[in-house]
Amino acid sequence: MSKQILKTAVLGLGRIAWLYHIPEIIKHNGFELAAVVDPLPDRRLEAAMEFKVADGYAATEEMYAAHKPDLVVVASPTSFHKFQILEAFEHKCDVFCDKPLALSLPDTDEIIAAMNKSGRKLMVYQPHRATSEAAVIKWILESGLLGKIYMIKHAISNFDRRADWQAFRKNGGGMLSNYGAHYIDQFLYLNRANFSKIFCELRSLVTSGDAEDMVKAVFTAENNAIFDLDINMATVQPLQPWFIGGNCGTAVFNQEEMSWQLKYFIPEELPEIKPQNGMAAAGRVYGTCEVIPWKTQILRQSDFSALDFYAKCYEYYAEDCPPFVPIAETREVMRVIEQCRNC
Ligand SMILES: NC(=O)c1ccc[n+]([C@@H]2O[C@H](COP(=O)([O-])OP(=O)(O)OC[C@H]3O[C@@H](n4cnc5c(N)ncnc54)[C@H](O)[C@@H]3O)[C@@H](O)[C@H]2O)c1
Repeated sequence: MSKQILKTAVLGLGRIAWLYHIPEIIKHNGFELAAVVDPLPDRRLEAAMEFKVADGYAATEEMYAAHKPDLVVVASPTSFHKFQILEAFEHKCDVFCDKPLALSLPDTDEIIAAMNKSGRKLMVYQPHRATSEAAVIKWILESGLLGKIYMIKHAISNFDRRADWQAFRKNGGGMLSNYGAHYIDQFLYLNRANFSKIFCELRSLVTSGDAEDMVKAVFTAENNAIFDLDINMATVQPLQPWFIGGNCGTAVFNQEEMSWQLKYFIPEELPEIKPQNGMAAAGRVYGTCEVIPWKTQILRQSDFSALDFYAKCYEYYAEDCPPFVPIAETREVMRVIEQCRNC
């Protein structure tokens, strides 16, 4: 049987479409770049020259008048996502949408209702599920070496004075929706449990806009694991990027060496400790002063492979496999973002 080729239209010719979606669509033989849409004529011309896509349109209606795509990739600014997804469903197209799915939770629910009503497929591009970084963390969690995981801390830090559309709240900007959508989703993927408690502080520090460029959030998942997230675009000193804590050990990431350092003990190798009676610490000493037979392990990030997201897309859109990013998890990301904004 010959392989189905998905005729694909890309909406938006900005950073993510140009650097990621279009090259991936061209690279994969299950997809055909049929048309692109962007209001800027220069970008359509550039796409014609760079990617040999002759069919560039200023607006989606013009594109639908000439094409019947199987798949529409929504890579326009977030404020256009809802309209363009609903429009694609009306034209009986499946949708692959860039994150975040929408501006709000009610808009998300409207999109999911339309998806269910139309019977079309919808998945959100959440690349941080597919990175080699996610693969190492998955390995660490599944190895059980650190015991029961009580906390994952992640920090993304930089000094970046944003002035583009993402610097403004009215456009769905801000680092919570931008990077936060990635890492809340990644934690959901790794931990496989929704969130039960949410704390979040948002600040606009060095941005030219009104949207936050600093996020401090602490989430508790239903399995009790804590996710501590820092997104800080106002620091020149980098924060420790990763810490994974379990009751038998910890793992941290070394940015310079691109490696993960695990330090842990084997529970069977430690003698049992008995609680002391009375209200006087024995020998006036706190702690056991025992020598722990620590084990160490270094995991090089380069020994883990990233997943091919467009291969996952093909499996879902063409071969009816389950979505790599289930829509229920996308809704949870949007619910958490909404609740963070209301903290
Ligand atoms: N998954 C990721 O890693 C990732 C990375 C970057 C951006 N994004 C997301 O992708 C989306 C686009 O972001 P970007 O950084 O590429 O933006 P960008 O500012 O670089 O580009 C936006 C493009 O969309 C075009 N555009 C504007 N209105 C349009 C419309 N109505 N229809 C079609 N195109 C329109 C603009 O002319 C521009 O070419 C956002 O939702 C963003 O959050 C995701």
